[in-house]
Order: sequence, then C-alpha cells, then structure tokens
Amino acid sequence: MDLKELIKQIVSSPKLHAKWLNSLSMMENTGARKISASEHDHLVNEIVLKHAAEEARHAYYLKSQIKKTGFEGCKTYLSHELLAPVQSAQYLHALDTFISRYLKNELGFSGKELKYAAYLLVTYAIEVRADELYPIYEEVLRENESKISVRMIVVEEQGHLEEMIQQMDDFFGDWKNHADYVLSLEQRLFEKWVAAIQKSTQTKPAYA
Ligand SMILES: [Fe+2]
Ligand SMILES: [Fe+2]
Repeated sequence: MDLKELIKQIVSSPKLHAKWLNSLSMMENTGARKISASEHDHLVNEIVLKHAAEEARHAYYLKSQIKKTGFEGCKTYLSHELLAPVQSAQYLHALDTFISRYLKNELGFSGKELKYAAYLLVTYAIEVRADELYPIYEEVLRENESKISVRMIVVEEQGHLEEMIQQMDDFFGDWKNHADYVLSLEQRLFEKWVAAIQKSTQTKPAYA
C-alpha cells in the first residue's frame, strides 16, 4: 500500500485519524525539544529560535485538530492514544543516534560542533520527509472535504528546509554527500515507521 492509500484509510476512521494526528503531534514535539536541547547557551540565533517555536506550534496545532475528527480522547501521548507508539517515539531518537555516530566516527566531530552538526543533518532529513508527507496528507484532507487542514505546516516546513540548506552551506560547505547518507538512513527508519503505522491500523480490539 502506498503512503497516500494508507493516509486515506486512516482519515476515513475518526479514531485512527485522531491517533494519527496525535502521533504527528508527538513527533513534532520531540523535534521541538531536540532543537531546544541542541541550542548553544549563548550563540543561539533567530533561525534556531524560530524553528524550535514553529515545531512546538505544529505539535500544539495538530493536537488541537483532534477534536475535529469527532473522536473523544487522545489527550496525552500515552501508547494507547498513538499509532505505532514505539516506532513513533523512536524514529527521531534513532535518526539522531545514527547521524551523531556518523559525524563522530566517520568525520571526527566532537563536543559542541558535533551537537550542532547533528542538529543540521537530523533536521535536514526530517524536513525533506515533512515536505513529502504533509502535502500528501493535505491532499487527502481536501479530497475528503475535511475540516482539518495542515496547509500552514506545509508552508512552514518548506521554509525550514530552505533554512537548513542555508545553514548547512555555511557550516559544511560541501554537504551533498552527507545529505545523501542521512537521507538513506532516514529512508530506512521511515519505512519501518510506515510499516508499523500500517500494522497498527489493522489491529482490532480484542472484543471486536
Ligand atoms: Fe514541523
Ligand atoms: Fe520543520
């Protein structure tokens, strides 16, 4: 099943749709927290602040859309309120771990530089993914004449990708090889996540 078909199936069920929104919200929130955690105490700039603020707002916005599905619940990020709770929680942490290991072992980064380089590459990979995922989700929402829209997120994620590319230009100079490597890492994690999401849409409650 391709991604759009999967999202269509999710959107057609208020409960699955609520959990999908909640899972995306949790992942956006993890992103916001990771950006904040990687900030330098003194050298933090406007782009980084804007980015952390917008990811936190995406988390809030997605959470606030849950009520429009008509499903009551998903107030927290507890496992039973998420799709693929384990993979959704691990996706970003795993990406961060793999990329940090690459920067350290293959490129010899350490300390604050390692932290900043990891922020750049992890966020870059996520923005590339966000620029694929959210437009497809928005397309499905419009086809369903849903009250929910993620158009604002689509626009902001495109801005983030441009900002990440600008920052990578400044920091790495030639970053294309790094980008290819991290995108291949991300692709594997994303496929695992999609497979897990698909599986959790098929799980029937024991009493059904
Ligand atoms: Fe975001
Ligand atoms: Fe973003």
